[in-house]
Amino acid sequence: MKVAVLMGGWSAEREVSLSSGRGIAEACRKLGHDTAEIDMDRNVAAALAEVRPDVVFNALHGVPGEDGSVQGLLDLMQIPYTHSGLAASVVAIDKDLTKKILVPAGIRMPEGRIVESESLFDGDPLPRPYVLKPVNEGSSVGIAIVTEDSNYGSPIGRDVPGPWQQFDRLLAEPFVGTRELTVSVLAGRPLAVTELTPKRGFYDYEAKYTDGITDHQCPAALPDEVTEAALQLALQAHRQLGCRGVSRSDFRYDDGAGPDGLWLLEVNTQPGMTPLSLVPEQARYVGISYEQLVQQIIDKALE
Ligand code: DAL
Ligand code: MG
Repeated sequence: MKVAVLMGGWSAEREVSLSSGRGIAEACRKLGHDTAEIDMDRNVAAALAEVRPDVVFNALHGVPGEDGSVQGLLDLMQIPYTHSGLAASVVAIDKDLTKKILVPAGIRMPEGRIVESESLFDGDPLPRPYVLKPVNEGSSVGIAIVTEDSNYGSPIGRDVPGPWQQFDRLLAEPFVGTRELTVSVLAGRPLAVTELTPKRGFYDYEAKYTDGITDHQCPAALPDEVTEAALQLALQAHRQLGCRGVSRSDFRYDDGAGPDGLWLLEVNTQPGMTPLSLVPEQARYVGISYEQLVQQIIDKALE
């Protein structure tokens, strides 16, 4: 089978995507597929028309590979592709829109508020501690946690480095939970709960992609009913958004609060596939190798 692995692109997660894409391409070759690697640029349609793949493995992260744009192009070109389709991608990339769909469905998420970055220089939008994040970035790009003793100042200083200098609008959310959990859903099945414990700070870009600085515990040490609730919530979110193939839902958890202590933060429709990524790790835990994972994701695209 001819597989084109789409990777790179121009999002802030370009390097993460190149790492995911190289691993996937290597797996495709081991699986015996005729494999083309495409580093996406604005001529991606021409590159695809030339390669004429049977399927595209979408290894892009961020905009425009994760927000429906590439999905729409592939729909128009009638090329089957992995992961979620256009509508689920449009919703899931937008952390605010995701809440508007999932909260009415009964999934608990922190109550967010969109703020103009300029307004932060007049005062806090929420009581501290709170989190500021761009609505449509991944890998913790542009996240700031504003605490009482943060050195951002009060109010936040215009000249203080932070996402308010880069983004006109940000999502403000109360800082919830004490523990960081994640659950992958593969082919309609939630795989496992992993707890992430960075050795310092929070689970930011560096903690996500630097070997040895975050402890990954899979399965997480949680009461059975909390594990079960997290697995079911991830599956519910995946279905409610209409995701396909694989997704990964990230949670915060109020330690000791039981199943009601779970807060869903977001659903990732193009989860990382790098050596430190969580989907491959959870797949391995349930006995699925990296190559088998790649093949299962391809199979879902061709169903
Ligand atoms: N946005 C990164 C790639 C993830 O969710 O794994
Ligand atoms: Mg994300």
